[in-house]
Amino acid sequence: MQAWDIQFHALSVGYGNHVVLHDINATLPAGQISVILGGSGCGKSTLLRHIIGLSRPLTGSIRIGGEDLFRLDRQAFRRVRRQMGVLFQDGALLGALTLAENVALPLSEHLRLPKPLLHEAALRVLRMVGLEDFARFYPNQLSGGMRKRAGLARAIIAEPRILLCDEPTSGLDPVTAARMDALLLAMHQQYEHMTTVVVSHDLASLRTIADHVLVLREGRAVFSGSLAELEASDDAYLRQFLRREADEGQMALHEPPHPQVQAALEGWLRS
Ligand SMILES: Nc1ncnc2c1ncn2[C@@H]1O[C@H](COP(=O)(O)OP(=O)(O)O)[C@@H](O)[C@H]1O
Ligand SMILES: [Mg+2]
Repeated sequence: MQAWDIQFHALSVGYGNHVVLHDINATLPAGQISVILGGSGCGKSTLLRHIIGLSRPLTGSIRIGGEDLFRLDRQAFRRVRRQMGVLFQDGALLGALTLAENVALPLSEHLRLPKPLLHEAALRVLRMVGLEDFARFYPNQLSGGMRKRAGLARAIIAEPRILLCDEPTSGLDPVTAARMDALLLAMHQQYEHMTTVVVSHDLASLRTIADHVLVLREGRAVFSGSLAELEASDDAYLRQFLRREADEGQMALHEPPHPQVQAALEGWLRS
């Protein structure tokens, strides 16, 4: 089996008259982890919706493994769509179903398999994300990080050729976010033929997981290349963008609160 790349050709996407992204030309390489980076509201989720085929482009095309997604007949489109696993921003678990039932959905919706077998399949991927002990829990009994991990388990249960993740680390504390990154890397390494696309504005995550980076800014793709090329870029905007995070990180490490403020705070919190 061959991994699929994702190509954008003169792609514009948006809603009605509102063009969100203009004239995107880029390739997300087959079998690699691509990070689509951009500020809040710049159109990352919108682009993802188009890769999944939920929305049609205003103009231009998206090619998945060489096939123009929006020119396929229904059956061929469904065949491509089946090869995509998606982790939505909030995990998108159904509240009325247990974790195991949620995770098994991509299989139970389409395959006639006995219940015990589905449960076994769900346990297998829950084990991979460290949640097997929570198989019978409901989503609202879990933390945000656990829901995202469950969403990931569901996204990979059907062994997709393309794994798409919308902000897998947003809203998580740094330790939980780092665990999620490690999990994504492990997942990607486990499936040789998988192309992974992660939408993010998390620069720490970018540096941990990305092979390839697509940077969106003000409705355009301002960079598409390897992580090393991004780090080496002398573009003023990209330099500033990448440095900002480094500065923030250093501030957190090297600027403890004033001892007097710290002592006063501690006294007040104890009182
Ligand atoms: N269903 C929708 N209908 C109309 N406009 C939308 C819709 N969803 C998102 N938008 C608009 O598209 C732009 C990009 O949104 P989105 O793709 O969600 O950004 P991001 O995921 O990068 O934060 C925003 O201006 C947003 O208001
Ligand atoms: Mg979004």
